[in-house]
Amino acid sequence: MTQFRIQPPTAPLSGTITAPGDKSVGHRAVMLGALAGGEVRITGLGRGADNRATSRAFKQLGVEMREDGDALIVVGAGRRGLRAPEGFIDCGNSGTSIRLMAGLLAAQPFLSRLTGDESLRRRPMKRIVEPLRLMGADIEGDTPPLTIRPVRKALQGIDYVLPVASAQVKSALLLAGLYAEGRTTLTEPGPSRDHTERMLRYLGAPVLSEPDGVTRLDPTGWEPVLDARPIHVPGDPSSAAFIVVAALLAGGDPVVVQGVCINPTRTGFIDALRAMGATVTVRSTGNPGGEPVGDLVVERRAGQPLAAATIEADLVVRCIDEIPILAVAAAAAQGVTWFRDVSELRIKESDRIATTAAMLRAFGVHVEEQSDAFAVHGRGGDSFTPAIVDAAGDHRIAMAAAVAALRASGPSQVDDAANVATSYPGFVNALQTLGADIRD
Ligand code: S3P
Repeated sequence: MTQFRIQPPTAPLSGTITAPGDKSVGHRAVMLGALAGGEVRITGLGRGADNRATSRAFKQLGVEMREDGDALIVVGAGRRGLRAPEGFIDCGNSGTSIRLMAGLLAAQPFLSRLTGDESLRRRPMKRIVEPLRLMGADIEGDTPPLTIRPVRKALQGIDYVLPVASAQVKSALLLAGLYAEGRTTLTEPGPSRDHTERMLRYLGAPVLSEPDGVTRLDPTGWEPVLDARPIHVPGDPSSAAFIVVAALLAGGDPVVVQGVCINPTRTGFIDALRAMGATVTVRSTGNPGGEPVGDLVVERRAGQPLAAATIEADLVVRCIDEIPILAVAAAAAQGVTWFRDVSELRIKESDRIATTAAMLRAFGVHVEEQSDAFAVHGRGGDSFTPAIVDAAGDHRIAMAAAVAALRASGPSQVDDAANVATSYPGFVNALQTLGADIRD
């Protein structure tokens, strides 16, 4: 079992690291590359297990891929080129793989079965299965495994109001919509990440993002081929967030995270940290392939307390994966920080309200828990109690705990941390590069 051991730092963190390729963009690059009308060169793809699960799945669907130096070349099979897979497609720990692929496979003329690890098999699939059925798909399974039967007559476009803001649901329906007759119009209650829309547009598909959370795909008159264009995967802001908060807690002299995706649907954590009094400087560096990219810079004195804030509503949608690490920042703030409208956390890789609260309590932090909210009573400038934390197999809880340990008054330990490899295999190395004493 992978374990982290962390000693509190004796000097502020300092140095420059590059964030791993964004997990969300990476999944989409492989999936849309596989449907393109020729070879797609993907650079910057993360090496995490989740992205690998997607690549493996598309190989099982008959898509050829090869490494070329640091790039992955995906030989696009065209919109109709996928082949029936043998056996189950195993999506591992990856909710994005299973939900997006369900949308795509719902439109195929062959049977497929999708499954995953113990955590994924507990996660709700009704949110995609129900609207896909409304489009004419034949799918079974409220939780994985999912059985997707061959489509008999073309799917129909859908006009659908999503009950919760979810990029996975939106993307599954857009992928199904690529094969549907007529228009697909999706309305969301909040600004979920828009990587699928951006990448589809970049590859020539007729997708519009309109005000008030409306996304439209109108294939009328479109020659349904995705262009084989190179895709660059920018650095993952969700991984960068752990390093940024590490520098805010342990001091940054300075700490720089290079090449991060700064798409506004992903930078809610920076806004949340700024609301807590942190200075995080964003230096824009470009916009390759429709995704804005920049460097994040943190310069801060060690031990300087943050201020409490309220994190709620649309801001939560824009930092949903960063709530565990923002809760660690809140624990080092002066006052009580409320996280509201966070019920979606209950159905992530773990019940993240429960696992975040348990992790912080292990460090001596007082946390109040409600069904869709929690409050963190910050310890201000005081250090945390050294802890032994069970990460419950959740990568983001393990990394959040490792960062919290930087603020403890003695050595701490994080157990069940192997799943950090799903999103950020270089996490320990990155912290070591910045001068932290962490071992696995
Ligand atoms: C993701 C969407 C989010 C996020 C997940 C990745 C994506 O999930 O939490 O880690 O790549 O589309 P929801 O769509 O369930 O909000």
